[in-house]
Amino acid sequence: MTHLGNSAASRDIAYSLHPYTNLHAHETVGPLVITEGKGIYVYDETGKEYIEGVAGLWCTSLGFSEQRLVDAAMRQMKVLPFYHQFAHKAHNPAIDLSERLVKMAPAPMSKAFFATSGSEANDTAVKLVWYYNNALGRPEKKKIIARTKGYHGVTVAAASLTGLPNCHRDFDLPIARILHTDCPHWYRYAEEGESEEAYATRLADNLDQLIQREGPETVAAFIAEPVMGAGGVITPPRTYFEKIQAVLAKHDVLLIADEVICGFGRTGEMWGSTTYGLKPDILTTAKALSSAYLPISAVLVNEKIYRACVAESEKIGVFGHGYTYSGHPVSSAVALETLKIYEERDIVGHVRQVGPRLQQALAKFRDHPLVGEVRGVGLIAGVELVADKATRQPFDPKLAIAAKLAAFGHQHGAVLRPIGDTVGFSPPLIIEEEQVDELVKRFGMALDDTAKWLAAQ
Ligand SMILES: Cc1ncc(COP(=O)(O)O)c(C=O)c1O
Repeated sequence: MTHLGNSAASRDIAYSLHPYTNLHAHETVGPLVITEGKGIYVYDETGKEYIEGVAGLWCTSLGFSEQRLVDAAMRQMKVLPFYHQFAHKAHNPAIDLSERLVKMAPAPMSKAFFATSGSEANDTAVKLVWYYNNALGRPEKKKIIARTKGYHGVTVAAASLTGLPNCHRDFDLPIARILHTDCPHWYRYAEEGESEEAYATRLADNLDQLIQREGPETVAAFIAEPVMGAGGVITPPRTYFEKIQAVLAKHDVLLIADEVICGFGRTGEMWGSTTYGLKPDILTTAKALSSAYLPISAVLVNEKIYRACVAESEKIGVFGHGYTYSGHPVSSAVALETLKIYEERDIVGHVRQVGPRLQQALAKFRDHPLVGEVRGVGLIAGVELVADKATRQPFDPKLAIAAKLAAFGHQHGAVLRPIGDTVGFSPPLIIEEEQVDELVKRFGMALDDTAKWLAAQ
């Protein structure tokens, strides 16, 4: 990698404003320029190979060279490269995709609405919740409860839902009427001797009390990822969603399942909602919907929400929401082909077969002096590093220990995701068992390097 002269790296520093990057550090560190992808591998400009241990951003489920998706895009490009869904217009790719998604949803759904990103899908969900309650004549019932460390995106409403300080700080967020409740991370936040079940009960009680304090007539919805991804790969404690949903039902609060990471096989079921028994009223999804080959996201709504939207739009004269690219035909065609491939290749069955290999291989690091917790399900996992195993004391954030490990990972040819002190894994769903072993081996080398580096501090 060179940052000199007219190199790609130096032009990147000169012209690109990078998402989720320390912009000051980037001016000296520069980028890792990725030029090619094949299967589960990506290659940088020097030709160095990396196993993409996070499928890009938890999204490239079919790897980086699925020809059928390229062909599907080409076919659609030639026939109808763009059309829209506004004002009674429609086209076959969006019709077919709507039907397919509604029929495969983990809970009864009525309609699919399309956008281009997970953030837009969640922003849409927020607006639909507000529209719904206005339609029902409940203008006060508007607050939405999200969770600390939940991740729902970065547009104004979605960033407000996101429970991570860096998404709010100095962006003047969150907006009004968005609240946060507990992060369901048993290892980090349970009390001494508290079982997972007891912890789940306490969190459900806290939610109940929050709703009571705010006034149930003001609380409209609760949003959750089945497994928290960007907040640190946090799997819910046993009985959590069962207890949370009982509280929501008691107060007539809608459930929004954010399936942007979990959807389409990641957890070993088609939906994270199935894995953890969620029965959402609204479901948002993106990423693996098209294996990330083209931007597309979807919001599924149930009949009760749809009917309220119908009534409200009749009153107003129009349902005043939609994006130019809602249901873009080329993205929709690629998404349809992606879903066909999942079915033909039984991607869920494949994840059930290789997922345990990843979880078991990582579990072997539980004895490592730097490892506090190994957690995960299907093909998503997190390894949390700790300064002290016995007390679970985290590292000094200034050490940026997981980022250090990820940098060693690059040297060993693995792309891993540092999140606080946790290292995240979410490889392409097509990964094979031997490739899982190789990924874990490269992680192990990076972990050892991290331990040596730490000892030298
Ligand atoms: C669970 C979840 N929801 C929403 C989003 C936001 O999606 P996007 O980056 O496409 O806006 C993400 C992105 O990582 C996500 O993980």
